[in-house]
Amino acid sequence: MDYAVVGLQWGDEGKGKIVDCLINHALPFKVDYVVRFNGGNNAGHTIVKNGKTYKLSLIPSGVLTENTTNYISRGVAFDPLHFIKELTYLRENGVEVRPYLSFDNPASDVHTTSYLHVDMGCPVITPVHRYVDEMENKSIGTTCRGIGPAYSDYYARRAIRVEDLLLTDEAFEDKFPDCSEATFSMVRDVRDKIRPYVDPYFNFNVYEDERVLFEGAQGMMLDVFHGTYPYVTSSPANPAFASVVTGYHPKNLTTIGVTKAYATRVGSGPFYTELTEGPVAETLGSVGQEFGTVTGRKRRVGWLDLCQLRQSSKIAGTTTLALTKLDVLDTLREIKVCTQVTKHLGSDEYDFNYMTFPGWRTSTKNMTSWEQLPPLAKEYVEFIERFVGIGISIISTGPSSESVILRPWR
Ligand code: GTP
Ligand code: IMP
Ligand code: MG
Repeated sequence: MDYAVVGLQWGDEGKGKIVDCLINHALPFKVDYVVRFNGGNNAGHTIVKNGKTYKLSLIPSGVLTENTTNYISRGVAFDPLHFIKELTYLRENGVEVRPYLSFDNPASDVHTTSYLHVDMGCPVITPVHRYVDEMENKSIGTTCRGIGPAYSDYYARRAIRVEDLLLTDEAFEDKFPDCSEATFSMVRDVRDKIRPYVDPYFNFNVYEDERVLFEGAQGMMLDVFHGTYPYVTSSPANPAFASVVTGYHPKNLTTIGVTKAYATRVGSGPFYTELTEGPVAETLGSVGQEFGTVTGRKRRVGWLDLCQLRQSSKIAGTTTLALTKLDVLDTLREIKVCTQVTKHLGSDEYDFNYMTFPGWRTSTKNMTSWEQLPPLAKEYVEFIERFVGIGISIISTGPSSESVILRPWR
């Protein structure tokens, strides 16, 4: 049995926290590999554990768990400068991420040691990609991390891939004669720091008794094929992409679809249930701390769109749901969910119908059992399950990995 954790909305659903929680509390066995399969350092996972907050963008969340092996697959757009920065950040915070198969003794200030391998097939993000992203993608509101331009070069079959970072200067110049000086200089600077993490002979061979957890970035509404194109990112968020890019086809994949108890979006594009102003928008934004991890931008907020959630769940092949940030709704008098979208014939206009629930108006923060939840909160959760037709096995009640209600798998 293998697992995939994917976002069912516009990203920032709390996937990082759910991954950490699954590895450390929710699954009754050890996860052998944590694999990032899409996106790049446009993602921002915030994980709060043992009272400490970690912010990761590119490196799989599994590195925060002792002794896990982590893998950045070729589905990921890889920024080598950012990679080095993130390794340093982790090291400064007591987490030593070692190249796969290295066995030195940990330093005394290290509290977590984990392992990481980078696929030599990852497309590399260059300074030129970042520049182009900043110049050309304003209307989409990208993170300006060079993600789109890097994937564009990959599909145009002219990308620098991680394996090329290891070439000698001469070989690199021969292969990429038109490469800009800024890119070439970056390649020279990062080569020796990246080399230990890339093993040209590494095969992602998973043995019968080993377990893999695929960690997704962004969400189904930002998926390049199924999202709100062109207001999307440039890779699929769908767990099917994990098989494509690792060459590993799990026979039994449990997909955990993560959704907030409301909705948010960063950047431009349609967001039908958006609340642009008013006290509810303010509460969701301030209690939910809805500011982007990567860019610090204010996230747009709105009600949960159950029609959207049902459709995303279906496309992602969702087995079970994780509902996050239920605690953010604690003070609301009324909570709405969108239950019907009707398109007007012959026009691009839509009508939206909402169901209104009375708020529970009591704190659910850090609750850990279903029995503790107020009856009105249970009603809200059960309505979502019934509407989407998929059980909610995990309910998150606070940022910390321990603030979670685990229900019998449903
Ligand atoms: P992307 O990969 O960028 O899409 O991000 P993500 O899905 O990993 O989510 P991200 O960490 O960006 O955003 C979730 C935010 O909500 C983080 O700041 C978490 O600490 C926080 N969070 C997660 N679960 C809960 C919860 O149940 N309640 C509250 N109040 N905060 C939560
Ligand atoms: P890009 O991925 O930087 O090209 O940005 C494309 C769109 O996806 C923009 O609207 C971004 O705000 C959004 N986006 C990309 N990554 C994330 C993420 O991790 N969380 C939320 N939105 C994201
Ligand atoms: Mg995020």
